[in-house]
Amino acid sequence: MISIIGSGKVGTAIAFLCISTSLDDVLLVNRTKDKAIGEALDISNAVPENSNVSIHGTDDFSKIIDSDIIVITASTGTYLKSRTEMMDAQVKMIKNIAKEIKKYCPSAIILVVSNPLDVLTYVFQKETKISRNKVIGIASSLDSSRFRYLLSEKFNLNQSQINNVIVLGEHGDSMVPIFSRVKINKMNLLEMIDETEQNLITTEIRNYWKSLRKFKSRSQFGIAKNTFDVISSIIKNNELIVPASIVLNGEYGEKDVSMGIPVKINKDGIKEIIEVKLNQAEHSLLKISAQTIRDCINSL
Ligand SMILES: NC(=O)c1ccc[n+]([C@@H]2O[C@H](COP(=O)([O-])OP(=O)(O)OC[C@H]3O[C@@H](n4cnc5c(N)ncnc54)[C@H](OP(=O)(O)O)[C@@H]3O)[C@@H](O)[C@H]2O)c1
Repeated sequence: MISIIGSGKVGTAIAFLCISTSLDDVLLVNRTKDKAIGEALDISNAVPENSNVSIHGTDDFSKIIDSDIIVITASTGTYLKSRTEMMDAQVKMIKNIAKEIKKYCPSAIILVVSNPLDVLTYVFQKETKISRNKVIGIASSLDSSRFRYLLSEKFNLNQSQINNVIVLGEHGDSMVPIFSRVKINKMNLLEMIDETEQNLITTEIRNYWKSLRKFKSRSQFGIAKNTFDVISSIIKNNELIVPASIVLNGEYGEKDVSMGIPVKINKDGIKEIIEVKLNQAEHSLLKISAQTIRDCINSL
């Protein structure tokens, strides 16, 4: 069973993908009970014929007891200028959710989606002491999808012609797109663009959410699909390599912080942390990003 905490835009989009593909049973847990029940009633009609899966809604955390995976998409409000804007309220919220998960289902694999992503992933792992391999922050894969999309638009190509696209570090203003590894039709991206263009693309990725909000209240489907892919890889034990946030213990030279780095995921959560080669500039930017997150954690 997959429990999804928070039945808002993101939580329900993830639930819809899990149910409509018959991945597993879903439990929606929401602060306002009626919202969880209503969303579950709606998504119930997306269960394919001959499928065994079902979806229910509740505000009762004790019902998460049999979850294999718990996805946290709860939010106390909507930030306007920065993902760290509501940090104190979000940290308080995740500490309460952590208590409930520790009480009812401490052996589940936890996917954190709520913002500020890296801070909440760190706080959740420290509060619950659940193994760091089972507490996974999902965001850098979305940032990587945005990087790939922007490159496809710039070069007027299909996204499939652009490979090795990753964004590491904070899911925030200090995130680091890794230009040195990107191949476009097997050519090195760095041979095709100069530093000014790199800086421009970096700004566009970091501000993607702001551009999107000119047209839509907030993002929903991109993060839902990226989270669904991780859930699916865990449930089906299909190894998946994606950038995700994990509490670091010396990897990439960092400790006491959680940030997006490439990981291999399987049925047990994070099976392996992958240390990819970065150039000097990228390495320095990743250090700054780690320190940015650590400063937030230390300010709590
Ligand atoms: N990682 C990423 O890349 C990424 C991408 C997009 C969004 N996000 C983040 O994902 C989160 C959800 O976004 P959204 O647009 O889905 O927000 P939303 O539509 O406002 O939904 C949040 C839901 O959480 C519920 N909630 C609040 N506190 C709760 C608690 N303690 N227990 C259970 N449910 C609780 C709210 O319940 P009520 O109905 O009572 O208000 C609401 O239904 C946000 O933090 C957002 O910033 C992350």
